[in-house]
Amino acid sequence: MRNAVLIAVCFILGCDARIETFLPNRVFSLSLEKTRGASAERATEDARRVVQELYGTPDDPSWPLPDNNLADLQNLVRSSGPVSSEKDGTHLGLFREHCVVCHALEGSGLGAASVFQNPYPRDFRHGVFKWKSTERGKKPTRHDIRQILVNGIPGTAMPSFALVDPEDVDALVDYVIFLSTRGEVERRVIAAAIDELDYGETSPEDGWELDSRNEGEGGEVVHEVLERVHADWAETQDHEVPVPSFSDLTGKALAASIARGKEVFHGKVANCAGCHGPSGDGSLPTLDYDDWTKEYTTRIGLTPDDDEALKPFREAGALKPRRIMPRKLQGGVFHGGGDAASLFRRITQGIAGTPMPAVEVVSEPNGKGLTVEEIWDLVRYVQHLSTSR
Ligand code: HEC
Ligand code: HEC
Repeated sequence: MRNAVLIAVCFILGCDARIETFLPNRVFSLSLEKTRGASAERATEDARRVVQELYGTPDDPSWPLPDNNLADLQNLVRSSGPVSSEKDGTHLGLFREHCVVCHALEGSGLGAASVFQNPYPRDFRHGVFKWKSTERGKKPTRHDIRQILVNGIPGTAMPSFALVDPEDVDALVDYVIFLSTRGEVERRVIAAAIDELDYGETSPEDGWELDSRNEGEGGEVVHEVLERVHADWAETQDHEVPVPSFSDLTGKALAASIARGKEVFHGKVANCAGCHGPSGDGSLPTLDYDDWTKEYTTRIGLTPDDDEALKPFREAGALKPRRIMPRKLQGGVFHGGGDAASLFRRITQGIAGTPMPAVEVVSEPNGKGLTVEEIWDLVRYVQHLSTSR
């Protein structure tokens, strides 16, 4: 709701309204209440205060643990706040200028335009990203995020920002890392408050309250979360998935490889056809959802189309659950890149946050995984499908 107001204010006043605080993650709190059977109200409120002490506000960001080089405070300052320009031409308020309409101030993906989109804009606060060069469970690299901003995500509402000044794009990469880190710390701190610090209807006893200064039990818990989330981002370079060498084939050799790839596509090990349909036309609808949606539906025992049960979540901002569909590969558009390296990573890692599973790479055919050669055959078949109707 506030984001809708913000957009309206932007149109009338030019996006220069000041905003004092990030909204707390109410949908996550409600999900926790359902699974833990405890009130998350105090924990959410105390977490909001602590996270604000650590990361600042939408107009005045700060960066805890400054030595780890993940985000440059100057870049965060330029990305945050209302939209304006300085005399020397430096742009300020980049996130509100380019992103907020879809991703919302908090990076929750609940921006005013989000309801019209499929897939919905990413909620950065889970710390989960789909289109990246790293292992499934790891964070993307800075380079991955920059590529997303430059290329957009074809086939989705996520636009390309290729015309934005490269320095501004760099600042926005830092700001995505900022919002994601901040949002994930908030989630983990709320959960830890309930699970480890005895938060419930009331705050816990003295010394156990959440604390941003690393003092007392409540401070230790916050710092453990902080160190862990920042370390996950810092080490992501070490988790890039190496891609074995790939040869471009033509003529008969290419046709033979595509034919073998088709077998693999239908085979028991990969069973791509089981989701993407026998001809890769995405004709087999699954009754499945992505992880962002599952968090407030199936994972807490609610049926996604039970409007009554979902009412409190929807009132807290949750988007209407939408099924995730296996992609139409025949004549389809690749969201994360159709080049051999991107497809190798997609197949061997699956797609984080979605039901698309990973296939294990094996050195000899053993009925459990695919060899690199089999994967290259499959990649050529998938590339071939995308050019056929
Ligand atoms: C018109 C709506 C829209 C705007 C504006 C927009 N995005 Fe997105 N964005 C999306 C959608 C939709 C997705 C999800 C696509 C998907 O799931 O494949 C997304 C996904 C992303 C992702 C996740 C990529 C991944 O690998 O999971 C990042 C990062 C991102 N956007 C950053 C930004 C930034 C930064 C801006 C502003 C410079 C921005 N977006 C502007 C709609 C938008
Ligand atoms: C359990 C169901 C399931 C299986 C099995 C599965 N996929 Fe997918 N696949 C999906 C879903 C769902 C998506 C859409 C993900 C998204 O866009 O968020 C997808 C997306 C894709 C994409 C699009 C990637 C992009 O960049 O847009 C490719 C390519 C793909 N799958 C190939 C395969 C191949 C090859 C196999 C077999 C090794 C396979 N899939 C097995 C569910 C599945």
